[in-house]
Amino acid sequence: MSVRNLNPVIDAIKNRRSVKNVNREEIPEQDLIEEILEAATWAPNHHLTEPWRFVVIAKNERLRLGESMAEALKTTMKTGDPRVEEVLKLEREKTLRAPVIIAVISSQSGGEKIVPQEEIVAAGAALQNMLLAAHSLGLGAMVRSGPHSYLQPVRDYLGLQEKESLVGLVYLGYPIDPPGASKRSPLETKVQWRGF
Ligand SMILES: Cc1cc2nc3c(=O)[nH]c(=O)nc-3n(C[C@H](O)[C@H](O)[C@H](O)COP(=O)(O)O)c2cc1C
Repeated sequence: MSVRNLNPVIDAIKNRRSVKNVNREEIPEQDLIEEILEAATWAPNHHLTEPWRFVVIAKNERLRLGESMAEALKTTMKTGDPRVEEVLKLEREKTLRAPVIIAVISSQSGGEKIVPQEEIVAAGAALQNMLLAAHSLGLGAMVRSGPHSYLQPVRDYLGLQEKESLVGLVYLGYPIDPPGASKRSPLETKVQWRGF
């Protein structure tokens, strides 16, 4: 057996899956949530700008987030669509699918040396750290962000400044079912080797 098969980091990276079904009511202990947030902050970031912040949402605040998601979705729907009310009701309740939602927010630090893309990439790395930390702690986590989660009503709910953007909403809780399988394309379809 290759020594790589025993590597816990690579093992976690490959075996982490998006967990859809978690216990909707049982909030994970706060120290576990803090561990996950702490892991996020150890992501690489250029110039040590730490271009992230987090809003941790539970209980009735999930409904306030859901309301903002529904309001955002409404702006994308055709007026007169007979399904509007039904779709918006479902949307409001979607945030109840996990007991905790962590909004991962990327901030643009500004300054001559700062490349805006790098700030987003760093916050994305923080998000992946969170998913891996949750997996390693036995929690289920999944990013759920439809296109409307980036719109103004959700920005307003999260209190985003102009230089901030939502990177993703991480749904977190105790897993109910084992997550489904996932797949990836063969490596050779994604890699070009040069100079080898
Ligand atoms: C930024 C981002 C947004 C996502 N938004 C959604 C979403 O809205 N709904 C959803 O079902 N999955 C969402 N996902 C999760 C992907 O569906 C999931 O990562 C993919 O199916 C691969 O599965 P795996 O995470 O188990 O490898 C999102 C993932 C990322 C990184």
